[in-house]
Formats: sequence, C-alpha cells, structure tokens
Amino acid sequence: MTTSHALFQRASRYVPGGVHSNTRFQSPHPVYFHRAEGPYLWDVEGDRYLDCTMGNASVMLGHRHPDVDAAVTAAVSRGLTTGVETEDAVHAVERLAGMIPDFGRVKFANTGTEALMHALAIARHSTGRERVAKAEGAYHGWFDPLWVSTWPAPDQLGPAERPAAPPSSAGLSRSAGDTVVLPFNDLAATERLLREHAAELAAVVVEPVLIDIGFIPATGEYLRLLRDLTAELGIVLIFDELLTGFRLAPGGARQVYGITPDLTTYGKAIANGYPLAAVEGRTDLLAVTDPSSGGPVGWVGTYNGHGSAVAAAAAALPLLADGSAQAYLDKLGTRLREGFAELSRTYDVPALVAGAGGHFQPYFMSGPVTGYRTAMASDPARYAILHRVARERRILLPAKPLLHAALSTAHTEADVEALLEAAEEAFAEMRSTT
Ligand SMILES: Cc1ncc(COP(=O)(O)O)c(C=O)c1O
Repeated sequence: MTTSHALFQRASRYVPGGVHSNTRFQSPHPVYFHRAEGPYLWDVEGDRYLDCTMGNASVMLGHRHPDVDAAVTAAVSRGLTTGVETEDAVHAVERLAGMIPDFGRVKFANTGTEALMHALAIARHSTGRERVAKAEGAYHGWFDPLWVSTWPAPDQLGPAERPAAPPSSAGLSRSAGDTVVLPFNDLAATERLLREHAAELAAVVVEPVLIDIGFIPATGEYLRLLRDLTAELGIVLIFDELLTGFRLAPGGARQVYGITPDLTTYGKAIANGYPLAAVEGRTDLLAVTDPSSGGPVGWVGTYNGHGSAVAAAAAALPLLADGSAQAYLDKLGTRLREGFAELSRTYDVPALVAGAGGHFQPYFMSGPVTGYRTAMASDPARYAILHRVARERRILLPAKPLLHAALSTAHTEADVEALLEAAEEAFAEMRSTT
C-alpha cells in the first residue's frame, strides 16, 4: 500500500517540499489524500479524517455535495472545458446578483489572488494613482503589492500607529514596500495615514473580518470610517470577501455591516471548492473592462469561467441564498465556543474560540482580539498541543496557529462534540505541562 511517507519521498525528488501550496507542508511530511465526502477526507492509507479545514474554507456545503457533484459531472460529460462562454456562467452570475445587496457588475477569474490583481488594475486606472493600503497582518493572496505585512514576525512590526510593510516572501518587486499598512480598528491612526497618503493611493483593500489571521471583526465604526474617508479622498474601497463572502451571510460582510464598497472580491465558497473567483462592483468601475466599448483595462484568462467551476457555482449558490446554511453553521459555532469556554474554565487555561459562518479560530489567551498584534499573543505551544491531539484522533486542523479552521454544512453536532473531546484531552495536557 502506498503511504504518505512514500509519496512524500517520491514527490520530493521533483517538488520542493513535496507540496504545491506551502501551507500544506507539515513535519515530518504532509499527509497525501485520496478521496473526500461530506465532512471527511480519506488519506492514501485509507484512514478517515474529520476535516476542519474544508479546502481552506471553500467547501462550505461539504465535500461532494450531491447537487454540486451532479452539476459538475453533467458539465464534464458535455465535454466543454474552457476558453468559451457558457450558459452555466450566466446562471452563476444571475444567482450571485440575487444574493448580494447593491450588486453592480461582475467578472469571473479563477483565484482570489487574480481577482485582487484585477481589482487593483481597475482602481489604478480609475484613480490615476499607484499605491495601495491594507490592514496589518491581513492576507490577500500572494502577489506584490498585497503580500506584505502578512503574519509579520514581532521584530518586523514597526510602530503600532504606523506599521511597517515587511515583504511576506522573498522575490517580490521592490515596489511592494510602497504599500501603506493600516492599524486595523484604530480609527485615528488609520485616518491620519489615509489623509497623509491620499494623493498616491489608488485603493484601500480590507477584509471586513480578518479571517486569514484568526477571526478579527472590524468594528462598524472602522468600516464606516474607511467608506466615508475613501469616498472623500477619491480612493477605491475594495472589500476582500474571499472568506467572509457567503459564510457570514448570503450577501457576505457587506450585508452584515450594511456598507457597500466600490469593488468586492469573491472566491472560495462561491463554487464549493472549484476554482472560481469574481470581482463585483460599481457599474462605472467595471465598465472599464468592457471590450464592447473599448474598455482600456484588460481582463483575460484561459481558465476564466471554467465549465466545471461555473457549473459548481450555479448549483452551490442557491443552497446558500436563504440564510439557513449560515444559521446552521452559526449553531455549530456557538456550541464550539461554549464548549471551549467551559474547558477553559475547568482546566484554568485561558482560551477562547472566535468565529462565525463555520469559520473558527481557537486562541490560547484571554482576549479581546482587535487586530494582528493582539492575536499574536495567542500561545503557539498550546495550539500545537491541540493540533497534535486532534491529529492523533484523525481530526484535521490547520497546522499553524492563526490560520483559521472551518466547518461545513455537512458537519454535525456529533462532529463538534468529537472536536471538543479532543480539545478536552489537549486542555488536560496543557494544564499539566505548561
Ligand atoms: C481573504 C483572502 N484573500 C485572498 C486570498 C487568495 O485567494 P486564492 O488562494 O484563491 O488566490 C485568500 C486565500 O486564502 C484569502 O483568504
């Protein structure tokens, strides 16, 4: 029987680290998987895992949801792959338009990173400016200028009211250092920085809840300040709803906060794990990508609107539209939060779970968590214990702290109890060893 270890050795002959996305690496070697169904994954040895990562949160309806599966199988059986427009893409757009308040115009791409690249091009063209601002710690994909100040190390942070912009990878363009990094949820410091750099800023990009570094909601006042200030200063406000979209509410964070940005990026849950992303936004802004009227901003891609991905989206979106999926996930999340709080009290280990819409982040600290700097206080050694104990019980959590975990509508209350039982064993170990 092929084992993960053997596959890792074979892969490593050709693939650095044996992984095609580096966050999948874990020591001594990554697990290699064979199939998935509902909330479960099976590895190549046939062991079943309770999946609490769900395709980096993209598989909101569970693996192999029958409706999505049927739609994709039907699309594949028609033989079309990519490179042409399809009826499924029109269906997917119409379903999206029915869910998102103040929906403007939209165009599809494949990944969140690409969607953000397109959104920045639109913003640069429409403002005639070059630079971009983002929140400290936040992740918006792997390209410069947004891959700066993502999980920065403590010695890279700089002053709290004027955070540094350290690159999160080697090999980025030097211009990545021009990114203006905003102190999340700090109204006065953010206003100062935006006013100072207004003449150079094309866009402010913000995840309304910082989920890729935990689960840190913006206050309503903070998002309102960003909305009002960007409008006043002529800067394009971009919400990155890759993770908040569809999960926090059918209409995403924009619906929860009642604030409409100029552009929004979507992905992940939009197609329940198939590669589809989108830029939605103001009609006048998206018009610059319209080839029928000579729009000057290019929008191309071999795989844009891929047949299987748009079929998946057309099938998945109606299942996310009436709010019941989100309500179910919030019920599971509430039980998880209460269970963790109980364990924290019983074992006298400071801990809390933050989350919504099936996203969850265990912090080993007392809170409150208002930004990246406060989230960093979460004890990584305690998270490592939780991760190891869960892994021994075949429950899959993100390998590193501050990468969020996620449930799907295929998870049950019994799955949450299984997670809490693992957590209890971990809390007992934490009390006795740390
Ligand atoms: C908030 C956010 N923005 C952007 C991205 C990038 O998306 P992708 O991995 O599809 O390029 C991610 C992915 O994790 C994300 O969580």
